[in-house]
Amino acid sequence: MTSDSVDYYEGTVKETHAAARRDVLALGEFDAWIGGESVTATEGERFATLDPVVGDEICTVPRCTGADVDAAVAAGQDAVDGEWGDYTPQERSNAMLAWVDTLQANVDDLALVESLDGGKPLKHALVETKYALDFLEYYAKVIQADEGITVPTGDNLHVYTRHEPYGVVGLITPWNFPLTISFWKLGPALAAGNAAVIKPAEQTPLSLLYAAELSADVLPDGALNVVTGFGEEAGAPLTEHPGVGKVSFTGEDVTGKTVMRAATENVTPVTLELGGKSPYVIFPDADIEKAVRDVAHGIFYNAGQSCDACSRVLVHEDIAEEFTEGLVARAEGLTPGDTLVEGTTIGPLISAAQFEKVTDYVELGKEEGATCATGGAVDDDDLADGWYVRPTVLTEVDNDMRVAQEEIFGPVEVVTTFETYDEAIDLANDVEFGLAAGVATENNSLAHRAAADIEAGSVWINGNYATPIPGGPFGGYKQSGIGRECSRDAIRHYTQEKAVHVALDEPSL
Ligand code: NAI
Ligand code: MG
Repeated sequence: MTSDSVDYYEGTVKETHAAARRDVLALGEFDAWIGGESVTATEGERFATLDPVVGDEICTVPRCTGADVDAAVAAGQDAVDGEWGDYTPQERSNAMLAWVDTLQANVDDLALVESLDGGKPLKHALVETKYALDFLEYYAKVIQADEGITVPTGDNLHVYTRHEPYGVVGLITPWNFPLTISFWKLGPALAAGNAAVIKPAEQTPLSLLYAAELSADVLPDGALNVVTGFGEEAGAPLTEHPGVGKVSFTGEDVTGKTVMRAATENVTPVTLELGGKSPYVIFPDADIEKAVRDVAHGIFYNAGQSCDACSRVLVHEDIAEEFTEGLVARAEGLTPGDTLVEGTTIGPLISAAQFEKVTDYVELGKEEGATCATGGAVDDDDLADGWYVRPTVLTEVDNDMRVAQEEIFGPVEVVTTFETYDEAIDLANDVEFGLAAGVATENNSLAHRAAADIEAGSVWINGNYATPIPGGPFGGYKQSGIGRECSRDAIRHYTQEKAVHVALDEPSL
């Protein structure tokens, strides 16, 4: 299969999803993964993961609790004390690359699992899965070139540094990009020599479980452990665990603060990648067609469920009408549909709760005085069981409105106009988040000036919005988080640095 060809299904929505469910369930056990084997929860409880397109259960997975987290951390510690801990960086790299090869050989199946569990169009899931693997591969290679430093001293002293893994690290991920965000964390964590205990989101545990099963023959037992379960039952024990040396979390800002508080107890360092309300600033000289394309991708891809979605457009008043018309047309050109058939370009939201949240925000926006230029419910009986929201554009939005300040996490763009450069920058920065931003202008100095003035961890100029690359740091200013992922330096977040001072006495023989 090439990157362009996807094995689509045929039939009614119910039929395609029943067939895909059978195919997925034939792939693996989908139990928790501890110490190199599939295990059930200590208490024996399970919970269902749903297919967002049809609202039906795909299967159940273990409902892990503190006892399972304890077992996973112990398995991780055994790995660090055993074979995994004895590996040289080159051997770790080789093991990770072997895992990448195995995942690559099963990439179509992985993508199917990701699509079914997360409600993603199959083709998007395939592209994302390949993209996710790029990060594992990147960190496997980066570790081969990792170095410490020597510190210049006098003749009687030799000082050098070592980068040592923490031991067992705890990783917690959300449901919007399950494999991608898992590999953003597992890549540097494993490459640095840690064992990982990772808790996927309760809505989308399946792709990571399958990926873990595919590690059986290539990673030493216990290097990778996956505990499935709910936030307070399985996530919180991981953040509080004295055996966990480092925590990395991606998700809602409120949860992130809870995670950070929990980590203070053991003075555990945290990396947090939280929410955003990222501005896309469109200056009057912008190539409007290009800006429309990039904004539409930035807000409607994955049905808007992206932490770095450009969920606030700030457009110069002279071109606002033309831009908005273009965006509305683009929004209306997207095709909500069965994620498993060809031609679908937008899937449902992840859950009933997310559907309610997003549709409530659209109503709130109207009450606050915004105009809904396009959007609303999907009028298709075949999709009635899925949590579909049509791409929505709210205009005449004031930056003080809640729809302009709060993370909606759905396919909802809000459009605000500006007159001057200073006003644009003030609006862009007048928000508690600072994850990402977009800038559209054909003026080179204006682009770089705006990139410097906007408070955000990433700025995309004239395209490719919201696609971090291996090597490009990704993370937030302000309340969007702490630390950076995706970059070479992210490895440093998973190591602690030791300075070794060696006294060199006068040689005497
Ligand atoms: P969440 O932040 O609660 O969940 C993310 C992960 O954290 C999940 O694995 C969850 O089980 C875990 N978790 C929850 N409570 C925890 C705790 N006390 N300790 C440790 N781990 C915990 O997000 P949720 O509830 O799935 O979605 C709520 C809202 O958050 C969404 O409507 C969306 O607006 C936003 N969100 C933002 C994301 C982002 O990347 N910025 C990702 C997911 C959600
Ligand atoms: Mg699901």
